[in-house]
Amino acid sequence: MRTQVGIIGAGPAGLMLSHLLHLQGIESVVLESRSQEYIEQRVRAGVLEKGTADLMIESGVGARLQREGLIHHGIELRFGGAGHRIDFADLTGGKSITVYAQHEVIKDLVAARAAAGGKIFFEAEAVSVHDLDTQPKIRFQHGGATETLDCDFIAGCDGFHGICRNAIPPEVLRIHERVYPFAWLGILAKVKPASDELIYTYHDRGFSLLSMRSPEISRLYLQCDPDENIAEWSDDRIWTELRTRMATRDGWMLADGPILQKGITPMRSFVAEPMRHGKMFLLGDAAHIVPPTGAKGLNLAVADVRVLTRSLLDFYRHGATSGLDHYSDTCLRRVWKVQRFSWWMTSMLHRFPNEDSFQHHLHLAELDYVTSSRAQATALAENYVGLPFDEPYS
Ligand code: APR
Ligand code: PHB
Repeated sequence: MRTQVGIIGAGPAGLMLSHLLHLQGIESVVLESRSQEYIEQRVRAGVLEKGTADLMIESGVGARLQREGLIHHGIELRFGGAGHRIDFADLTGGKSITVYAQHEVIKDLVAARAAAGGKIFFEAEAVSVHDLDTQPKIRFQHGGATETLDCDFIAGCDGFHGICRNAIPPEVLRIHERVYPFAWLGILAKVKPASDELIYTYHDRGFSLLSMRSPEISRLYLQCDPDENIAEWSDDRIWTELRTRMATRDGWMLADGPILQKGITPMRSFVAEPMRHGKMFLLGDAAHIVPPTGAKGLNLAVADVRVLTRSLLDFYRHGATSGLDHYSDTCLRRVWKVQRFSWWMTSMLHRFPNEDSFQHHLHLAELDYVTSSRAQATALAENYVGLPFDEPYS
């Protein structure tokens, strides 16, 4: 089998890349180890930056997002028993974010690829990549047979546990990493969200977050130990803990309801560089992980996709290689700024083990500053809605 761009992984990065390349007349094949049902139901964060939502709409996969996505013009930071609104619209000249679940983005992209006759092989596991400097090949297993996909370029969109990053020779690959001493216990609950906007809370007992998926479904998180046993968290214990952390002095009440799903997510910051080796490019979680505070994972994956699409277009239309040559540096500039923001939000809002009184007061001062200084609130807002792009994607 042969194609122009061989894409490993049908997460947001791989599917969006395949979709945008198709719109530019560039052919691709997507290999995904999981089933279609699995990827269309995987629960992940659900906040789209303005630029991500706009790109979906402009590229023709935004109809459902426009109908069902919830547009938010701000968030609340809560600490010391009181809430403080960060007004994105006011601070960023009218920008907003859209709350729309990641698996809905996946469904929309899979449907668009299918409607355009795009090739996605599900339950097709890439086992190795070869000849990255000359004529790249992907070996994959599908339906009990081992097959080969020959391509001009390989896009490694295979997430944190994929094979592409480790195909870069160890003497070339550099890893920068921070593992946090806490995790998030997340739930989906069948209850009307207790607020129209997201609430990020810093409390003596740890961080908590109120988010949502729809007007009927709430998504909530609370900080816990990384080795916490989910079996020890009854529904009652979860709701009591959330209510305690989110309580305000004026008696705000968190409504509870049946918990549909619960799980624990570890937290890390991770960057692998370079993001290109020969004719193989890394995108999204294959190259970088951010902690979920600020919900940047999907948005950063889509930012890589914009850069690679533009570079491949320059190559196929004009034979220009400079975009491809600079792919890694271009992506990493944004990656590090988003890493900084995600690390800062995480550090500001979580209780660290053995936090002493000095660190605790710095936390409170940081929160006081961001909620009382227009300059600092603007810095939060412009990062949250998404830093601007230097160039359009095509
Ligand atoms: N062969 C084929 N597919 C693979 C292989 C392999 N060897 N290894 C991994 N995959 C698939 C996974 O099954 C997964 O569907 O690659 C896909 C990677 O998708 P994501 O993990 O969603 O990564 P990405 O597209 O970079 O999206 C980043 O999504 O992971 C979330 O929270 C993350 O929001 C972030 C965003
Ligand atoms: C979510 O809705 O899942 C979500 C929202 C905001 C975050 C992280 C996750 O910062």
